[in-house]
Amino acid sequence: MPLAFDILDHDELASTNDEARRLAEEGGREGLVVRAARQTAGRGRQGRPWISDEGNLFMSILLRPEVPMGQAATLPLVAALALADTLAPRMGDTAELTLKWPNDVLIRDRKVSGILLESGGSRQGLWVVIGIGVNITSHPPETMYPATSLAEAGISWDREGLTESYLRTFGNLYQTWQGHGFRPIRRAWLRRAARLGERISVTQGTERLTGIFEDMDETGALRLRLGDGSEKIITAGDVFLGD
Ligand code: BTN
Repeated sequence: MPLAFDILDHDELASTNDEARRLAEEGGREGLVVRAARQTAGRGRQGRPWISDEGNLFMSILLRPEVPMGQAATLPLVAALALADTLAPRMGDTAELTLKWPNDVLIRDRKVSGILLESGGSRQGLWVVIGIGVNITSHPPETMYPATSLAEAGISWDREGLTESYLRTFGNLYQTWQGHGFRPIRRAWLRRAARLGERISVTQGTERLTGIFEDMDETGALRLRLGDGSEKIITAGDVFLGD
């Protein structure tokens, strides 16, 4: 059965992930979605802030997957694929819509969304919160990675319509992931991957590696072929397209 979602709307929250985590720890059910019109302390990956002005989408989905945490780590890739699949029918040229490892959706090589997974345990077992931010009407001007918005890409979609369509797509892919594991998701993700087989750079703290993006493996890790021919398996980092 596809997951039934319940949207809990707020005008303002510090972070929808914080509220979803609170609900998770209180025993909230799988499928709860916390959404806010704006966030005052939105959080991004690697402890960065996520600018959260009104007009964009900020929501967090509570999941209780019955798998070990290691497997649940592929869920952000499911969430990113779901967003790309949601946006694809609205794109004139779907080649302009790509996925940047691990879970950024890009339009014309600019980041239009961000996904932040957080997890923990409660009496009911493992909980996972997937926080999703989509730049609908605006994007911050100065970001570590160039950003864009749906509006800038010529896609006009309101928060309601986008949320509804996204949750339907995500629910279907989550069901596939539960029934068949990460394998079919991986294949679909790779079909949309930015620069597969080409040069990319990955930063991990102060270290920067450049190589050929060869694959994303069955665990969701990135395989980078370095200049000396060796292979590096990367499980965390920031990818930049090109050198
Ligand atoms: C990234 O750094 O790319 C991830 C950004 C995740 C932002 C979303 S907005 C909704 C949810 N609440 C948060 O505080 N963060 C996530």
